[in-house]
Amino acid sequence: MANPSLLILAGDGIGPEVMAEVKKIIGWLGDKRGLVFDVSEDLVGGAAYDAHGVPLTDETMAKAQAVDAVLLGAVGGPKYDTLDFAVKPERGLLRLRKEMDLYANLRPAQCFDALADFSSLKRDVVAGLDIMIVRELTSGVYFGEPRGIFTEGNERVGINTQRYTESQIARVARSAFELAKRRGNKVTSVEKANVMESGILWREVVQKIRDEDYPEIALNHMYADNCAMQLVRTPKQFDVILTDNLFGDILSDCAAMLTGSLGMLPSASLGAPMANGRPKAMYEPVHGSAPDIAGQGKANPIATILSFAMALRYSFDQGDEATRIEAAIEKVLADGIRTADLMGPDGGVPVTTSGMGDHIVAALDASL
Ligand code: IPM
Ligand code: MG
Repeated sequence: MANPSLLILAGDGIGPEVMAEVKKIIGWLGDKRGLVFDVSEDLVGGAAYDAHGVPLTDETMAKAQAVDAVLLGAVGGPKYDTLDFAVKPERGLLRLRKEMDLYANLRPAQCFDALADFSSLKRDVVAGLDIMIVRELTSGVYFGEPRGIFTEGNERVGINTQRYTESQIARVARSAFELAKRRGNKVTSVEKANVMESGILWREVVQKIRDEDYPEIALNHMYADNCAMQLVRTPKQFDVILTDNLFGDILSDCAAMLTGSLGMLPSASLGAPMANGRPKAMYEPVHGSAPDIAGQGKANPIATILSFAMALRYSFDQGDEATRIEAAIEKVLADGIRTADLMGPDGGVPVTTSGMGDHIVAALDASL
C-alpha cells in the first residue's frame, strides 16, 4: 500500500520555523517506527502571494484536495496588511477550509500540569482542564451572502450575513456528539437563540439529533455571552463545546488563554470521509504567524507538533503514536524545558525553537 500522504504548507512568519520541528518528528517516526509519510511542500498566505500574486494557487488547492492530510503553519504579517481583501494571506486559509469543506474544527484546550501557573487564572481553576471546542468552520457569517460594502443613499453600509441551513448544523452537531462519546458524554451547544433566528434553528436541530441518535449524551444549551463568562469563571464545567463559526473563533481564543500559552494549542479541521475512509483534513496550530518574533528561534513549536499528533490520531489511525508524542511533550515540559513564551516564575531551561524540537525527539527516543 502507498505511504500516507501529507502536504505541508508552512506559510508565513514563524510557520516555517515551527514546521521544521514537525519535520524532525516525521523523520523520527520513519526511522524509528517504520511509519513513513510521502511529504510534499508548498506555499500559502503571504509566501504564496510573494511568489504568485495570490495567497493560494489553483495547483496548491488541487494538491490539498488530493493528499490524505494537510499540515498548515500560519499565515499573515504586517507586510500584507494593505493588500486588497481578495488576496490577503487569510483568504488562502479560508479557501482551503471552504473548498475542502472542512466543516468541523476541533480545538482542544488542555492545561499541561507543568504550565498551570502560566494561566492568568488561579491554578485550581485550570489545572487538569481538558475542553474540546467543536467550531463550525465553513458557513455562518464568515461566508453568508449577501456580504460587502454597499452604498445606501449618501453613506456606505457594511453587510455580512449569518446563515445556517439545517444540514450545516446537523453535520457538525454529529461530529461533536461522536467526539463526546469518546470523551465525557457531555456537550454544551452555544448560540444566541435569544436574539438570532439562526440560533433558534441551531438549538432545535442540535436537540433533535441528540434526542434521536445520542440519548446517552448530556446536552445543555448556553448563550454565547454567558459561555464566555463561564469559561473564565469555572472552565472545568465544560467537556465538548459545540458552536458556530464566529462564536467558535472568539471562544476558542478565550479557552486557549486559560491554558497559559497560545503556543501550546493544536487544531484539526475535518470534513466528510474520502474514498479511502479518511476524513478530508487539515491540521494547524491555533496561534498565528507572530511576525514580531519570526526568524529569532523564539517560537514554540509545540502547538504545531501537537497538530501533527492530531493528524496521526484522526487521519492515520495512529492514536498510540499520537499519545507517545503527547507524552514526550509532557515529559519535556515537566523537565523544565522552556521556549521564550513559557519562561515564567519557575525559571526553567531556556531553549530555542529547534532546541525544543530536539528535546522532544530525545524524549521520544527514551520512550522506546
Ligand atoms: C482562526 C483565525 C482565522 C479565523 C483567521 C486567520 C481568518 O482567527 O483560525 O481562528 O478567523 O477563522
Ligand atoms: Mg481565531
